[in-house]
Amino acid sequence: MSSWIPGQSRPMSISSMGGALGAEASDADLADVPFSREEIDSIEVALATYGTVVFRKQRVRDEIRLSFVQAFGPAIGGRIQEIADEDSQFVDVGTVDRHGNLYNSNDARGMYMRANELWHTDGSHCQPPIRLTVLHAQVLPPEPPPTEFANMRAAWESLPASTQKEIEHLQVEHNILWSRQQIGMKPEDFSEQTRSVIRPVRHPLVRTHPLNGKKSLYLASHASHIVGWPLDEGRRLLKSLMEFATRPEFVYIHHWQPHDLLIWDNRWTMHRATTYSGPYPRNLRWCGVRELEPSC
Ligand code: OGA
Ligand code: MN
Repeated sequence: MSSWIPGQSRPMSISSMGGALGAEASDADLADVPFSREEIDSIEVALATYGTVVFRKQRVRDEIRLSFVQAFGPAIGGRIQEIADEDSQFVDVGTVDRHGNLYNSNDARGMYMRANELWHTDGSHCQPPIRLTVLHAQVLPPEPPPTEFANMRAAWESLPASTQKEIEHLQVEHNILWSRQQIGMKPEDFSEQTRSVIRPVRHPLVRTHPLNGKKSLYLASHASHIVGWPLDEGRRLLKSLMEFATRPEFVYIHHWQPHDLLIWDNRWTMHRATTYSGPYPRNLRWCGVRELEPSC
C-alpha cells in the first residue's frame, strides 16, 4: 500500500516492505516543516497496519526528534535510574553512550543492553505501558546487528480457535525483575531508587488494537506468569506462546542503515536486539511514547 497525502509541502508516502511487518516512509525529512496532524495520523495508521515504519537518513538533533515523538503523545525517557540520561529525554542504546564512552557489559547499564536480546515489548512492565518507541541510529558499525520484530497479531490469528477461546481472557503479570532474572541480574543489582519504583503490573494476554479492532497476543520477556494460575503452569504457557509468536514466518528483520529513525507500535509487536560483540561502536537514541490509558 502506498498512501500519498495531498496538499503538503513535503509529499510523504508509506509503503509496506512486504514481510511479516515493516513499512518505509519516503521523502520525509523530519528537519523540514513540522508534520501536520494528517501526517501524524497517517503514520499512526501505518503503525497499526505494518507495526514498524522507518524514516531513512534523518540527521536531526534531539530537539527535532523530541518534537516528532511528542506529536504522538507524552514522551517517556528512561524511568530506570541505571539507564536514564540525566539531561535528556533519550536513552542511549548500544555499546557506547552519546559521548562515545564504552558501556561495561557487567554493570547495570551493560546488563540492560544484554536484556534487549530477549524478546520483549518496551514498557510492558509499566501500567499504562509504552505505546510507541522511536529508535534513531546515530553511530553504526560497518555491519550493524539487525533488530528483529515479531507480529503478535499474525501469531494470534494463527492459533487454533480452541486455544484462542481458552486463553483470550487471561491476565498476565509483568515484572522487570523477572526479565532481568533471566539474564542473571538479581534484585540487589538495581539501585534502591529503582527498586522503590518497580511494581508488578497486570495486562491482558490478548489485546485489541484501538485503531482497527484487531486482536493480538501481548507478550514480553517481562511477562512472568498468568494471574490466578500456578506459577509453573503459567510460565509454561507463556514460554510456548513466546516460541510460537517468534517463529520465522512472524518475524521481520530490520537491517539498520545510517541515520535510520525507526518507530514501532509496542501494542502488537515484540522485538529483540541481536548479539553484537564487534570492535566498532553502536549508538542509537531511544524514546518511548506513553499510553494514556491502561492496556485493554
Ligand atoms: C530497544 C531495543 C534493540 C536493539 O531499544 O528498546 O530493544 O537492537 N533495542 O538495540
Ligand atoms: Mn526494546
